[in-house]
Amino acid sequence: MSRQPLRLAVLEAQRVLTDAGVACPRVDAELLAAHVLGVPRGRLPMVPLVDPSVVEALRMLVSRRAERVPLQHLTGTAAMGAIDVAVGPGVFIPRPETEVLLAWGLAAVRGVARPLVVDLCTGSGALALALAHARPDAQVHAVERDAVALSWARRNADTRAEAGDTPVALYAGDIADPGLLGALDGMAHLVLCNPPYVPVGVPVAPEVALHDPPAAVFAGHDGLAVIPDVVRTGTRLLREGGSIAIEHDDSHAVAVPALLAARRVLTDVADHVDLAGRPRFATAQRTTLPVSPESSPRLGR
Ligand SMILES: C[S@@+](CC[C@H](N)C(=O)[O-])C[C@H]1O[C@@H](n2cnc3c(N)ncnc32)[C@H](O)[C@@H]1O
Repeated sequence: MSRQPLRLAVLEAQRVLTDAGVACPRVDAELLAAHVLGVPRGRLPMVPLVDPSVVEALRMLVSRRAERVPLQHLTGTAAMGAIDVAVGPGVFIPRPETEVLLAWGLAAVRGVARPLVVDLCTGSGALALALAHARPDAQVHAVERDAVALSWARRNADTRAEAGDTPVALYAGDIADPGLLGALDGMAHLVLCNPPYVPVGVPVAPEVALHDPPAAVFAGHDGLAVIPDVVRTGTRLLREGGSIAIEHDDSHAVAVPALLAARRVLTDVADHVDLAGRPRFATAQRTTLPVSPESSPRLGR
């Protein structure tokens, strides 16, 4: 059979994805075409004609995407910072909104030599590995409770180490464990966390409902079942002057800063918006000032 215009195949893919209710049908059609061709999306205009086998491969991927299989499960990767991580069934797909948290964390340790960084709830390892890539002098530790997610993180950590990044230390553990990473108590310059935080019952897209692990997304009726443990453990790990950043649901712009502010050793509590302008993560610093137990009714460590 003769070669066919790629433009028409992408237009047809866009039509199918639009009918299926996919959020960004044109973008996904182009990204799937780029994946099939093995080229960056920006190079598609330089590929006017393609073999029928390419059109067929695209058609098959598009039909799976139309069933609301996540784009990243079809391409096998998701981006975070300057790296891609492998993702698939059993692990949370890193989201673009978490890029802002990563950027904040990198800014927080700018100027700190050999920072010690902890990523609580690491999932695929995306945050920890992106940070280690951007800061080769950092000592990065990452914790995950779920065995399948941890296996994705290990695979990604091996890939990044083989590519030359400073290896990240991965731990199987529950961030609610009061003894977690005890050897690092009071040593972290930065604690990052993108925990589960969606209130149970909040409707989510089929891609999330059917393909993200529920324990990675939902956290009790108010979405706050995990974050108090993040605050407790993160505060314990921080050194004086160290920073913590916790991603949260857009309904938590008051609740999560309040959890941080309730710790008397934390100061400079602030909330931040994501790329879409929605409240997305809260930050604080461990104070360098002496804390007097009498001077404050707030919680200790
Ligand atoms: C929203 S995902 C975030 C993954 C990754 N940080 C990212 O941004 O892509 C939350 C992760 O936390 C893990 N998790 C949930 N509760 C946990 C707990 N108590 N201790 C450790 N990990 C937990 C889940 O298994 C999931 O992988």
